[in-house]
Amino acid sequence: MSIILAIESSCDETSVAISNNGKITANVIANQTIHQNYGGVIPELASRVHQQNIVPVIQQALSDAKVNKKDLTAVAFTRGPGLLGSLLVGVSFAKSFALALDLPLIAVNHMHAHILAHFIEDPKPTFPFLCLTVSGGHTQIVLVKSYSDMEIVGETLDDAAGEAFDKTAKILGLPYPGGPLVDKHAQLGNPLAYKFAVPQIKDYDYSFSGFKTSILYFIRAQEKINPNFIVDNLNDICASVQDSIVNILLAKLKKAANQFGISEIAIAGGVSANSGLRSGLKEMAIEQNWNVYIPAFEYCTDNAAMIAMAGHYKYIDQEFVQQDVAPLSRMEF
Ligand code: KG4
Ligand code: ZN
Repeated sequence: MSIILAIESSCDETSVAISNNGKITANVIANQTIHQNYGGVIPELASRVHQQNIVPVIQQALSDAKVNKKDLTAVAFTRGPGLLGSLLVGVSFAKSFALALDLPLIAVNHMHAHILAHFIEDPKPTFPFLCLTVSGGHTQIVLVKSYSDMEIVGETLDDAAGEAFDKTAKILGLPYPGGPLVDKHAQLGNPLAYKFAVPQIKDYDYSFSGFKTSILYFIRAQEKINPNFIVDNLNDICASVQDSIVNILLAKLKKAANQFGISEIAIAGGVSANSGLRSGLKEMAIEQNWNVYIPAFEYCTDNAAMIAMAGHYKYIDQEFVQQDVAPLSRMEF
């Protein structure tokens, strides 16, 4: 039996969840709105807001789960990858909390946790499966052989898919985080209105930096003809950009699935909340005869429920860390 308190603080969400023997009984997420004014997450501000949020979020999670902290059996936390100052708040709190309550500590890799979010609810994928993990900092195709044995088979060589969305939004004058706003406008536009260059990258890898530049040049050229080009065509621009990103993501996923002969396919991470990616994957599932797994919205973007899930499997393996553990901004997969 395990009752695990899990802390996520890798970027700009302060989140605490509780799992009772692998079942999530609380998942509290405090979002930070302060970054909207800056067009991106300001690390110094993020860590300060984590400091303000962490105690009330812990208390809320314990209260939601109706758990006394004395009943906990372990503390799990995101060790990395992420913003060092943000991670430091969660890691330090987890360590002192575990020390005070004499509990074992479980260090979780944030990218593993995004994948293990698929084990929070039914239906669950069966091993081995392929997971396209698309977030603000990462784009990876992962071959998932077990809860702990995962191998990256393809990844981005530069920008992540989430960054491609966020940077497009910035070019279009939309506030941070732009991904959800591009998605909202895209649903009202024509995905075939404009064409953007598709990057030609080897194997199952991705590249989005040239793609982003091609959007910037396209917008600049159009604005020379019509200074109101963005305002006049916002929905069509968003729909076309989204369609291009989704097609790039799914083409490599299909290639990998064929190569590995795997038909259990999952998506994870913040961009898996994207309506175009979700519907594109469902269409491809019919065409390719895949079983696809798409997380509930609350488990796509950063949350501690996925950290609790990863913590649960590590607890079963008794994989604990000591008090000298430090956060890692870059963490080996
Ligand atoms: O996984 P996540 O919450 O944080 C990281 O670990 O990075 O992912 C955040 C990313 C941001 O780039 C955000 O714009 C993007 O996910 N995102 C979306 C959508 N919702 C979140 N991108 C496109 N469409 C969405 N609906
Ligand atoms: Zn994430």
